[in-house]
Amino acid sequence: SMANIILAIESSCDDTSAAICADGKILSNVIASQAIHEAYGGVVPELASRAHMQNLLPTVNAALKKAETELGKPLSFTDLNAVAFTQSPGLIGSLMVGCSYAKSLALTLNIPLIGVHHMQAHVLANLLSDPAPEFPFLCLTVSGGHTQIVLCHSPLNMEILGETIDDAAGEAFDKTAKLIGLPYPGGPLIDKYAQSGTPKFALAEPQIPELNFSFSGFKTSVMYFLQKQNKENPNFIGENLNDICASIQHHIINILMKKLVKAVKQTCIKNVCLAGGVSANSGLRNAFKAAGEKHRFNTFIPEFQYCTDNAGMIAITAYHQFLAEKFENLSVSPSARAEW
Ligand code: KG4
Ligand code: ZN
Repeated sequence: SMANIILAIESSCDDTSAAICADGKILSNVIASQAIHEAYGGVVPELASRAHMQNLLPTVNAALKKAETELGKPLSFTDLNAVAFTQSPGLIGSLMVGCSYAKSLALTLNIPLIGVHHMQAHVLANLLSDPAPEFPFLCLTVSGGHTQIVLCHSPLNMEILGETIDDAAGEAFDKTAKLIGLPYPGGPLIDKYAQSGTPKFALAEPQIPELNFSFSGFKTSVMYFLQKQNKENPNFIGENLNDICASIQHHIINILMKKLVKAVKQTCIKNVCLAGGVSANSGLRNAFKAAGEKHRFNTFIPEFQYCTDNAGMIAITAYHQFLAEKFENLSVSPSARAEW
């Protein structure tokens, strides 16, 4: 007979994604990104919901097809043992599209419905690595919407040790990128230009207690720095783009790594992971691995396709919820904000 097969849907922000997972192994992870937001310099919620509506069915069908090829035998909706969706947090209209679709499938197929927490899923994306980190592990989740240090005791038992009190790390990249005239999302572009630059400009690093973060003051300090330099030289940005990007990136990484190393020392945990879209940043990846060597902890970074928003991470989380029989009934609704 077939393995335990789960279809997972992710639609919390501007990526529509569907994945098929068999006994905890990802058979397919299809992601449809929405290009429409670039023209607006950020994600427009109404447009995101509409694009999810348009993208969801083709994405699910593509995920089924790909999984079928992977399995080497026919796979249809009736083979599914459960359907999972991102329940929170995220844009409410976007979440509703995935939730409604998952509910209707669960009802039609008479299979369990699984609601997944997006941030827990980012953390558990690390379970898809080979080798996977052993529990307990620490995870620094850095995305466009979140910055957290999480202590993960077991798949469904995590605690937040620290988080941002204002902007997320990805927002710090994107908002400072906007200040230097780069299009949205600017994070990957800062990464690219930083590779040819030197971090020679000193910028303010906020001092925040405990294991928490703040990036709003950093962004403001970049703004004042640029205003001051522009007054002296109107071509300052154009002439120093690489060094400005290297400096911005250097400081963001510093802020993140200081707190992560502090968390490692406090907890004495030796397995440490990265998660979220910002873990694609080449400077952060290098700094993370270097810190692991210096402070003697094991480092784990998910494959790129599991770093940014994706349904594969929803599927692996749903698999553990399935094993624990953590199901939702059909009256469940998504929520924009959510406690763990
Ligand atoms: O996890 P993600 O795909 O979506 C959210 O859940 O937010 O993260 C997106 C964020 C954006 O802020 C984007 O600029 C940032 O990740 N990002 C990067 C890089 N690639 C993506 N930031 C810096 N360097 C990169 N290479
Ligand atoms: Zn995310």
